[in-house]
Amino acid sequence: MELSKEIKEQNRYMEKVKELNQNKTKHYYILTMGCQQNENDSEKLCGMIEQMGYTKTEDQKQAEIVIFNTCCVRENAEERLFGKLGELKKIKEEKEIIIAIGGCMMQEKHITDKIKASYSFVDILFGTHTLHKFPENLYKLLEKKTKQEDIIDIEGKIYEGLPIKRESKYQASVTIMNGCNNFCSYCIVPYVRGRERSRKPKDIIEEVKDLAQNGYKEIILLGQNVNSYLRVEKEKNIQFEEYEGINSFATLLKAINKIEGIERIRFISPHPKDFTDDVIEAIASCKKVCKLVHLPLQAGNSKVLKEMNRKYTKEQYLKLVEKMKKSIQNLTLSTDIIVGFPGETEEEFKDTLDVVNKVKFEQVYMFIYSRRVGTPGDRMKNQIPEKEKHERFNKLKNLVENQIAENNKKYINTIQKVLVEGTSKNNDKMLTGRTDSNKVVVFEGNKKLIGTMQNIEIISEHMWFLRGQVKNVPQKM
Ligand code: SAH
Ligand code: SF4
Ligand code: F3S
Repeated sequence: MELSKEIKEQNRYMEKVKELNQNKTKHYYILTMGCQQNENDSEKLCGMIEQMGYTKTEDQKQAEIVIFNTCCVRENAEERLFGKLGELKKIKEEKEIIIAIGGCMMQEKHITDKIKASYSFVDILFGTHTLHKFPENLYKLLEKKTKQEDIIDIEGKIYEGLPIKRESKYQASVTIMNGCNNFCSYCIVPYVRGRERSRKPKDIIEEVKDLAQNGYKEIILLGQNVNSYLRVEKEKNIQFEEYEGINSFATLLKAINKIEGIERIRFISPHPKDFTDDVIEAIASCKKVCKLVHLPLQAGNSKVLKEMNRKYTKEQYLKLVEKMKKSIQNLTLSTDIIVGFPGETEEEFKDTLDVVNKVKFEQVYMFIYSRRVGTPGDRMKNQIPEKEKHERFNKLKNLVENQIAENNKKYINTIQKVLVEGTSKNNDKMLTGRTDSNKVVVFEGNKKLIGTMQNIEIISEHMWFLRGQVKNVPQKM
């Protein structure tokens, strides 16, 4: 079916479910596991569900529909899902509820087999390629009272025009591409998200313009490999319409930078191997693009990087960092690191510590290598014992924490531009927001400031957040 027809068809199903629900108050509960792309998918699910007449609840027990949007990038995500399913079983014994599970983990056959065998009370299973068909699956379940399984293994398509219910009123995630073609040897994502494909420039620009008109200040561009935006299309000679001069990631950044009302642009994740000079130049020259760049390292040793299929060496990574720091004023970097990849020796692990020492990252997201069924890493014979992996993790964590404490000091007595996001989770008398470099800042202030950019003077540092105060700009006489 043509993509736009498919969405029209789903709109009709949304109407039908809404009719079934007329004059009834129904609630849904959604739990999202995984990355920001999954969260963005959940916002689309919420958009569809609310259009069908359901209201969101934070209380699982109050809901008529419970949805889990799953992740499978590491093992603990699976443990979490099965734990949650145990809880739901008890609720379902007492009350009629619909349980729907979707997302990346549903693209793994050994998982869906396990759910069907041991958790047969689940009503709807859907994958990453069939999210847009949730209204149809729900309608069929309600009408025919038969369980629905809608999972397909395809390269993947891009559906435009789904309703969306966003979590925040000021920051918006905008997916610019789906899937991944990199096949890093530890990673499951390419198998569960399909092949790399980019959204059309026009669709992205229209979405961002619409967000700007609705008061959004910060845009986070999402993709597994954002700096190869439109690359596959160009390589395969797939026609795409250029729009406002956009034919690459660099030109996309420049076009978004021009959109009035948007004050900040972030993006995750770029891949070091695709960090071309035009992207560096675009970051340097676009005022709204944050000067914090997430640059996943994964490992610091060239042999391990080769085994990981990352396509760069330690030296190339360090050279890239040097070039970026030279070209982009006030650049800071964050990164992802995996410890204990199969075959990694203690000596090789020291190269990771060495890179961390040299680059001095603003933030490091650290992971213990986790075997994923179907990936080359899982088939490698030389797996590292758990104990060693944990020891390495702790060594890295110590180094990173020392560096962060040291690095935090540079903020004291500086003025930072902060987008005020809301009240603090721990104290609703305090406001919270983030700096350009993605540091959390907590400060006292009027709730009217929420959603605005403020100059905040930093007064103290507390490892994971900074304390600040609103800096009143003196009025001109
Ligand atoms: N496409 C993004 C990130 C995808 S997953 C990128 O390339 O940066 C997010 C992070 O999870 C990865 O950067 C990696 O550090 C980590 N990760 C992925 N697979 C993993 C595995 N099998 N074990 C441990 N960490 C993993
Ligand atoms: Fe996974 Fe590598 Fe693709 Fe990132 S680039 S999603 S780590 S395969
Ligand atoms: Fe997880 Fe899927 Fe994201 S596996 S990290 S939710 S792409």
